[in-house]
Amino acid sequence: MSIIFREVQVSDRDQLMSMHNDFFPVRYSTSFYDDMVQGIGMFGSQLCTIIAEDQQSGTIVGFAISQILKYPLQVEDYDLFANPQPSHVMYILTLGVAASHRRQGLAVDILNRCRSKAESHVGCGAVFLHVIHYNTAAMQLYSRMSFEKLRCLEDFYHFDNQSHRSFLFIRYLHDYHGRDKDYEANQMTPFGLLLAVREWGMSGLRLLVDTVKSYLPSIPSISSLSSLFSSWANNSDSRNSSNRQKVAVAVSVDSCGSSCTGHGHSHGSAGSSTPFRSSSSASSSSESAV
Ligand SMILES: CC(C)(COP(=O)(O)OP(=O)(O)OC[C@H]1O[C@@H](n2cnc3c(N)ncnc32)[C@H](O)[C@@H]1OP(=O)(O)O)[C@@H](O)C(=O)NCCC(=O)NCCS
Repeated sequence: MSIIFREVQVSDRDQLMSMHNDFFPVRYSTSFYDDMVQGIGMFGSQLCTIIAEDQQSGTIVGFAISQILKYPLQVEDYDLFANPQPSHVMYILTLGVAASHRRQGLAVDILNRCRSKAESHVGCGAVFLHVIHYNTAAMQLYSRMSFEKLRCLEDFYHFDNQSHRSFLFIRYLHDYHGRDKDYEANQMTPFGLLLAVREWGMSGLRLLVDTVKSYLPSIPSISSLSSLFSSWANNSDSRNSSNRQKVAVAVSVDSCGSSCTGHGHSHGSAGSSTPFRSSSSASSSSESAV
């Protein structure tokens, strides 16, 4: 087997689309592929692509679509590093190998190439990605490649009218590293628990006010109470957002020992734009497939 490695080109579009449709449960919009073959990634920045092509047949047998992002990210993948913090990270959007070429070390080769690209980028502290919770083949691959399973993200993927959780796998580069293994466990202090209980209470109160408001929309005092509460809660939210993220991490630990974060808990505005999240009809290149 003679494989050549190259960057993506416009003529790859249909083949990549068909491979993505075969490999992943998530369906991507056509603009995702249009952008991909132009090398345009999330936030309009440039993609790093690795295409493995069988020289004899001229067909694509493997790919990795990744991109270097500025860190810290404005989304849920916070808190990836202990100090020092890097200026960039590599995010792998999609990775796949044709069934005919699996278990021959091709994914390892492609991932090593991704890592080399990331390492050559000054200030790039890690390569990371998300994987759906039942993809054991991929998880074995990442573990073998010294990726760490950092955390679990609830309701990350949405397809077939269901939500699915994902795991965040990360491989640190250079001298960058994650928080101490005990970091998240240490958040389980009495004070951390107190903050968590307060947070749950706030969510409950917010829900109650919203429910009452929806039943009595014409009573001004209820509306003002609600907006007063919301504005207070929002102020309080912004003051405590960083603490809350840590608390949310602390309160839920999954069976694999990874922290499991529900997005509603970990962020003040649940449902805000989440560039790495995928839905059944994902739009544009702001989505992940792994
Ligand atoms: C996951 C995938 C990329 C692996 O590609 P591959 O080229 O077969 O992987 P490699 O040959 O480099 O395998 C390296 C190691 O990964 C692990 N691995 C790969 N496939 C595996 C499988 N089906 N079951 C268990 N472990 C597996 C093994 O540890 C393997 O080493 P070994 O062959 O010496 O046992 C490929 O199966 C694929 O494209 N799947 C569909 C798309 C997908 O799931 N992408 C990843 C999304 S996160």
